[in-house]
Amino acid sequence: MKDKASNMPPHGQRPLRSVAWFGSADRNGFMHRSWMKNQGTPQRMFDGRPVIGICNTWSELTPCNAHFRQIAEAVKRGVLEAGGFPVEFPVMSLGETLLRPTAMLFRNLVSMDVEESIRANPIDGVVLLCGCDKTTPALVMGAASCDLPTIVVSGGAMLNGKFRGHDIGSGTNLFSMSEDVRAGRLTSNDLVEAEACMSRSSGHCMTMGTASTMASVVEALGLSLPQNAAIPAVDSRRYELAQNSGRQVVELVHKNVRISDIVDRRSFQNAVKVIAAVGGSTNAVIHLLAIAGRMEIPLSLEDFDAWGKNVPLLVDLMPSGRFLMEDFYYAGGLPAVIRELGEMLELTAKTVNGKTIGENTTDARCWNRDVIRTLEDPVQKSAGIAVLKGNLATNGAIIKPSAAAQRLLRHRGRAVVFESLEDMRARIDDPSLEVDADSVLIMRNVGLKGFPGMPEVGNMPLPRKLLEKGVRDMVRISDARMSGTAYGTVILHVSPEAAIGGPLALVQNGDIVEIDVEARRIHLAVSDGVLAQRRAALAVPEIARSGGYQQLFVDSVLQPEKGADFDFLVGRRGAGVSQNAH
Ligand code: FES
Repeated sequence: MKDKASNMPPHGQRPLRSVAWFGSADRNGFMHRSWMKNQGTPQRMFDGRPVIGICNTWSELTPCNAHFRQIAEAVKRGVLEAGGFPVEFPVMSLGETLLRPTAMLFRNLVSMDVEESIRANPIDGVVLLCGCDKTTPALVMGAASCDLPTIVVSGGAMLNGKFRGHDIGSGTNLFSMSEDVRAGRLTSNDLVEAEACMSRSSGHCMTMGTASTMASVVEALGLSLPQNAAIPAVDSRRYELAQNSGRQVVELVHKNVRISDIVDRRSFQNAVKVIAAVGGSTNAVIHLLAIAGRMEIPLSLEDFDAWGKNVPLLVDLMPSGRFLMEDFYYAGGLPAVIRELGEMLELTAKTVNGKTIGENTTDARCWNRDVIRTLEDPVQKSAGIAVLKGNLATNGAIIKPSAAAQRLLRHRGRAVVFESLEDMRARIDDPSLEVDADSVLIMRNVGLKGFPGMPEVGNMPLPRKLLEKGVRDMVRISDARMSGTAYGTVILHVSPEAAIGGPLALVQNGDIVEIDVEARRIHLAVSDGVLAQRRAALAVPEIARSGGYQQLFVDSVLQPEKGADFDFLVGRRGAGVSQNAH
């Protein structure tokens, strides 16, 4: 940069990055300070103190993050308390429920927004305000590529849904009640009544869906203060945590502790095991792979299987279990789970408060053993996300066994193939559809390039005629994702996807499909010779290149086992800027 730090003594022990903007006595220093003073900023804020960017995904179109202005105020109080200069800045927000065609299409776009916003501005440290599903990975990915001192503050989950005397969970009960309407057990008026009962406070989905899983992931990675994962959004302690995080990030800047000083491969191992123990979302696999790619830390699909394999399900939360995030926090939250896992984890891994994850959880207590179980009495003995491979998924596919019907984890059935999401929707309830309870529903062309954006549609609805007969689960296979709040025997992320000629494109109606989760196998019982003939005859349709961002996406996105990042975004580029036009 052309700007030179002035001879002004720095506020901390060393000149900070922001001094290159605010510290000079020349025309540039005037310009950088003067325009900031139009917000009433006093001169003393430019004395070399840490400038903390508060990266905010507030939006009324992202209901899960709609309370983030108040959270940002709490972070600012902490930054000021510690002698820093807080500056809040917006980035694109991703509301899972409203965005079309799917929020995942925009995760990498937001990560670019975050990365460039941090690097281009006079920021010494960052607090990331994350909530709804994609906002957490997008912000962590962008910040990781810059690698400044960083703390994540999650927005917290909504209070438990309450409907006619029972707790209901975001997403999970939406899916189950929708099936009840299709099976004639509930009316659509009942469903409208349930809407307000399900979402009755600020915050994100209060099941262990993707948002709660990713909030747990950042805590397990050491990127947040303890208890970040589970404090409800409206609980005053969420604001205390936000203020403490603002205070702590100033400390990180003074000590020059960056993301890369905290997170290493051990941290990812902890995160993968924690995902298993809490019954976390399958989406975490793609997001963690992408985050590791940004941090240049090796992580593979096989690591998820190997690390998660013998981890028991300790937390009895929907969609795998009975309770909700509010119950989880009152029972002790993630520190109680980490303490219970004990030596299964890498307890010397670092965290943003300067202590190891083991030190942070030494005194953690569990207050409700119905919600957080012991290693001796788990909800399930083995809960890790399983990675399946075979001639139907040569690069892998995943399943969350804890959310599946155990009797279907080893299964053989005839394929019922849908060419697309639209095809599935048009025919799934057709009374003439040739399907029975043992059939394997297959949907293709719903992957990253094929849809595009890999929507959360892998948990296909069951055919109405089977629902009416009492069928509640079937094996479903696709190159899509599924909501972290969803459940069922659902095999997802089949790679390579059908739209680029993956083997899923070769399946025909009536083919026998075999799955064996214990053996980690997914197999199409069709001879290699027949498959070769089908491949020779396969006409892979041209992927639509519609221009704009969508074209960048289909041209650059990597397959799910690589984290679905853009090929040119992988890696840590740092926060340096070599040019300055001022
Ligand atoms: Fe935002 Fe579920 S829709 S977290």
